[in-house]
Amino acid sequence: MAQSKHDFIERKVGWLMLFTVLTVSVGGLVEIVPLFHMKSTTTPVEGLTPYDPVRLAGRDIYIREGCYNCHSQMIRPFRAETERYGHYSVAGEFVYDHPFQWGSKRTGPDLHRVGGRYSDQWHRIHLLNPRDVVPESNMPAFPWLDRPAKSDDIEAKMEALRKVGVPYSDEEIKGARKQLEGKTELEVLIAYLQGLGTALSAGKQVAAAPAAVAAAPAAEAAAEAAPAPAAPAPEKQ
Ligand code: HEC
Repeated sequence: MAQSKHDFIERKVGWLMLFTVLTVSVGGLVEIVPLFHMKSTTTPVEGLTPYDPVRLAGRDIYIREGCYNCHSQMIRPFRAETERYGHYSVAGEFVYDHPFQWGSKRTGPDLHRVGGRYSDQWHRIHLLNPRDVVPESNMPAFPWLDRPAKSDDIEAKMEALRKVGVPYSDEEIKGARKQLEGKTELEVLIAYLQGLGTALSAGKQVAAAPAAVAAAPAAEAAAEAAPAPAAPAPEKQ
């Protein structure tokens, strides 16, 4: 009986498609929906503030120029990554990112903790012509960014973000255009880069840390303290 039902589904391609879609949808919902309600993915980490107008404008330039095509903003909790880039990324750091810029391509290094790593002047030279500071770089130059940043749409952008949950106040939105006055695209982009990934150290600790996140710094500290593994003793013949 059961066999013949299965036989039926496998022989009728319409039914097979319908049941496949149903099964995959239920599986997807069960995995994805809880993430929208979990504290560790929806609560901002301590020290995280919404992007101020200058950094927000810079973020839009980052998106417009397609920096995400070569740079990720997500440090994975592996020793090779944390030693190179710093503390691994946690979900609570991206609560005000709409859309997030995690990316999946690393032609260049991960940028999630690049904030504060270089001076503004370094970024300026690097963006105008990367080869001036990193001779072997194959990052494109962005010389056109040295022009005034657009400011007349900043209030609309902030209001749109408020609709999806970013807590901007009316005064913040009203004063936004003023903060962008006289700024170049280069300056606002650099302000965005300099703020990247700094909330975690400002807040010192991860809010609502799930067990895995709480355990990982200990593992990281142990990894730092541990000497490089000794070479295995040569086997005697
Ligand atoms: C075609 C790929 C590509 C694109 C597009 C690109 N980059 Fe890069 N980027 C690189 C490479 C490769 C490096 C490493 C060499 C160097 O430092 O220039 C790099 C390095 C960097 C660094 C230094 C990171 C570090 O930790 O040393 C920053 C900051 C940076 N890029 C920002 C940007 C920004 C902002 C944009 C968009 C305006 C951008 N990149 C677009 C490839 C790219």
